[in-house]
Amino acid sequence: DHTNADTLRTPIVAVLGHVDHGKTSLLDTIRGSAVSEGEAGAITQHIGATDIPLDTISGMAGDLIDPTDFDLPGLLFIDTPGHHSFSTLRARGGALADIAVLVVDVNDGFQPQTEEAIDILRRTGTPFVVAANKVDTTPGWNPQDGQPIQRSLAAQSERAESMLNENLYEIIGQLSDAGFSADLYWRVQDFQKNIGVVPLSALTGEGVPDLLTVLMGLSQRFMKEEMAIDVQGPGEGTVLEVKDERGFGATIDTVVYDGVVRNGDQIVVGGQDDPIVTEIRALLQPRPLEEIRTEKKFEKVAEVGAAAGVKIAAPDLDRAMAGAPVRVVRDRPLEEVIAEVEAELAEIEVDTAEDGVVVKADTLGSLEAMANALREAEVPILRAEVGDIAPRDIAVAETANQDEHKAILGFNVDLLANAESELESADVKLFTNDVIYQLIEDYETYVEEKQR
Ligand code: GTP
Ligand code: MG
Repeated sequence: DHTNADTLRTPIVAVLGHVDHGKTSLLDTIRGSAVSEGEAGAITQHIGATDIPLDTISGMAGDLIDPTDFDLPGLLFIDTPGHHSFSTLRARGGALADIAVLVVDVNDGFQPQTEEAIDILRRTGTPFVVAANKVDTTPGWNPQDGQPIQRSLAAQSERAESMLNENLYEIIGQLSDAGFSADLYWRVQDFQKNIGVVPLSALTGEGVPDLLTVLMGLSQRFMKEEMAIDVQGPGEGTVLEVKDERGFGATIDTVVYDGVVRNGDQIVVGGQDDPIVTEIRALLQPRPLEEIRTEKKFEKVAEVGAAAGVKIAAPDLDRAMAGAPVRVVRDRPLEEVIAEVEAELAEIEVDTAEDGVVVKADTLGSLEAMANALREAEVPILRAEVGDIAPRDIAVAETANQDEHKAILGFNVDLLANAESELESADVKLFTNDVIYQLIEDYETYVEEKQR
């Protein structure tokens, strides 16, 4: 029933995983096979996301999918670089992504950022599947380009298949250690109770049809109600990144998950101090690949409807925060919308103490994740903020009472040039890392050594 597609929005699929495990390659392959299906025109590239319509997905999945079983319009994939905190992917009431693909290199298994992704998926209750990637690197592998995984497995030697199985069961065991019961996806009866593992190769495309099938099935079965939105309502979204763009100044790369955003709309955006109230000057989408060579990277569009990624250009966005809410005001009182944004920001506010460490993180979501991890480790926080490490942070850290608290913990942030000399002369210890638990472990080791 395709008329439903007018009111059901596209599910948002986050692709997560450890650095180099193949997230971008997997998306490239999905895009590439769509292109070779002769459906290149159907794929729309968004800011930070790729929209693949249902017809294209069913074309790629071949006989694994019957498109008449589905009425969702397709899938919107968001790529998250492994070094960047995907904890930005938050939205009103929890996770921005409706569903996630956790990419794990079959040979490497779980790695630090895999563990972090799992923690966030657990905390936000986001349904996910595991893409056990790079099966083609199994010694003696006989590649079956683009084929469903069962067909590919049938073409392997017994030895290659058993080597792959060993790696797959290792991953299933690691998922179980993390508290998730998992199995190879074709053995999973109930995807609400068990995590499906899809063996695949982003390089050869084998197993990719299976992944698309599982994703469509999951979103159709468990999320249809959440996908029903007022497509003409005032837009709601989340800032993925704040970026300076030549000719536009500070812009926000935004994922819109509800309603519609129009050029000229008044919006309220979560800022580092107060909410920012501004008016949209331009809505920007990447130009098709062949046009990117030209000077202009973007195309101006009049409106975007959920779900979509879009770059918003507007005055005063330089104090916007990654992970913060974006709300279109439209026919509502401005004060009401400001209060909404404030309430959402308050949800993420970190409990601070009289004495403790200074925490800096790249996004609101990662700040929240840091605060949770520090609470568990019983490390008090004096101040927690989004942004790079500035002289002011060093001054604040110096005011801590206990010596062990004269420390700054920076997650995915830089030390600003003008803070370097200050740090040298101050009695403050700086820890930076892009893995939360390693950052906290480093700090704990330092405290233990100090106490010795
Ligand atoms: P970050 O964005 O840095 O976190 O990495 P990523 O997860 O996006 O990984 P990416 O797709 O950039 O792949 C990392 C490397 O693994 C590249 O050299 C890819 O060519 C390679 N790779 C990815 N998938 C496969 C696969 O299925 N098989 C093989 N043999 N190599 C792969
Ligand atoms: Mg990548």
